[in-house]
Amino acid sequence: MSIKIQFKLNGEEKNFYVKPNMTLLELIREKAHLTGTKHGCGNGECGACTIIMNGEPVRSCLILAVEADGKEIITIEGISPQNLTELQKAFIDEGAIQCGFCTPGFIMAGEALFKKTQKPSDDEIKESLSGHLCRCTGYEPIFNAFKKVAKK
Ligand code: FES
Ligand code: FES
Repeated sequence: MSIKIQFKLNGEEKNFYVKPNMTLLELIREKAHLTGTKHGCGNGECGACTIIMNGEPVRSCLILAVEADGKEIITIEGISPQNLTELQKAFIDEGAIQCGFCTPGFIMAGEALFKKTQKPSDDEIKESLSGHLCRCTGYEPIFNAFKKVAKK
């Protein structure tokens, strides 16, 4: 059985037929072919699959595709299709990317944070980074990248 759903994906209205047990992460990667959103743990622990749904950063591996019906979804491909955002530039400047697997999740968490508040406190930044795992950077360059944008 497939269910028809419709939602706004990176600014465009889209329709998909999905199985009731398909996750939003599977839909994004396998049906919408947007592979910037990463499949890390698959059970809500690593943050690599983070997207923005109705303005909030959420883990797409924990959400069923059918729950996206009627929502507005932004993936890493949709945040700034033409140019890098200030946060993406800061990640490069601060050396906050090594293998890069975790990066889309951190960027999406950060973009959601900076939409809510342009000058987040250190605690707000840490809160937004919490639950995102990075095995390469030691987190400090990522925190510094967020700080750099917060200072602008
Ligand atoms: S893949 Fe979703 S939190 Fe790890
Ligand atoms: S840069 Fe490799 S996991 Fe974060």
